[in-house]
Amino acid sequence: MRRERGRIGAEFDRRAATYDNSAMHRWQAHEAVRLAAPRPNTWVLDVATGTGLAAREAAALTGGDGRVVGVDLSPAMLRVATERSPGNCFYAVADAHQLPFGTDNFDLVMCVAGLPYLDAPAAMREWARVARPGAAIVFTVPRAEGVSVNHLMGRAAQAEGIDLPDLHAKLGTTHRLRELAGSLGLEVEDIHRIVWEDPEPLDDPAEIWQRALNYGFAEPLHTADRAARERARRRFIEQTEGHHPRQDLSLARFTLPTPA
Ligand SMILES: C[S@@+](CC[C@H](N)C(=O)[O-])C[C@H]1O[C@@H](n2cnc3c(N)ncnc32)[C@H](O)[C@@H]1O
Repeated sequence: MRRERGRIGAEFDRRAATYDNSAMHRWQAHEAVRLAAPRPNTWVLDVATGTGLAAREAAALTGGDGRVVGVDLSPAMLRVATERSPGNCFYAVADAHQLPFGTDNFDLVMCVAGLPYLDAPAAMREWARVARPGAAIVFTVPRAEGVSVNHLMGRAAQAEGIDLPDLHAKLGTTHRLRELAGSLGLEVEDIHRIVWEDPEPLDDPAEIWQRALNYGFAEPLHTADRAARERARRRFIEQTEGHHPRQDLSLARFTLPTPA
């Protein structure tokens, strides 16, 4: 797990300068902030904040007397966030599972496009620890087989006898998300689907393949026969020719109970 976190941090360090070009990520952050609707003068935590796309939007709503704190593993992503954020945003390198904050600090916790990299129950328990009673936790997470590029990658690998787990199966349905909330003693206020269809075809499938090798779900490719792995890679590149990436996501709002 620690090795994977190191790889993920380094991967996002590499992507930092161009990350904000992703229309899909800008859209996803905007949808999440719309549901989160941070109130003026409140304290917001944005976990796995990246370049702060959601944090910056939230900061405009909390206003000068509110605070938005973003944490992430990648220092380069946070440098971009700091450069592009207003003065009421603060950033720190920290792991989403071990936050450097005391209890009962935040009125709202957001996590946009971050959960697939995390141990969701452990991370969310930690967010609940630092949030105030009645606080909201708003997050996005892919539905099962909801990221078309990962799905095509799995199919290409499977054709060579290499089974990749569905990265998004665990939290991929509304039912699973309700179970997660229940297991943590959180209330479900809203879970609904949002879908992104990229107007542009996939730009550089070879790079996407290379990048995906850093993630846990691609582990079986590291141990697979070299020739089979190369055939799977070529098959993926062929299959994604002209493919318009699609993301089918859940957008959810949980709340911490308030004492009776
Ligand atoms: C796809 S980006 C999402 C960034 C941002 N929330 C957004 O919506 O654009 C995922 C981010 O999660 C961060 N991340 C992954 N694992 C993490 C962890 N264990 N703790 C903190 N951040 C993590 C990565 O460094 C990366 O910046």
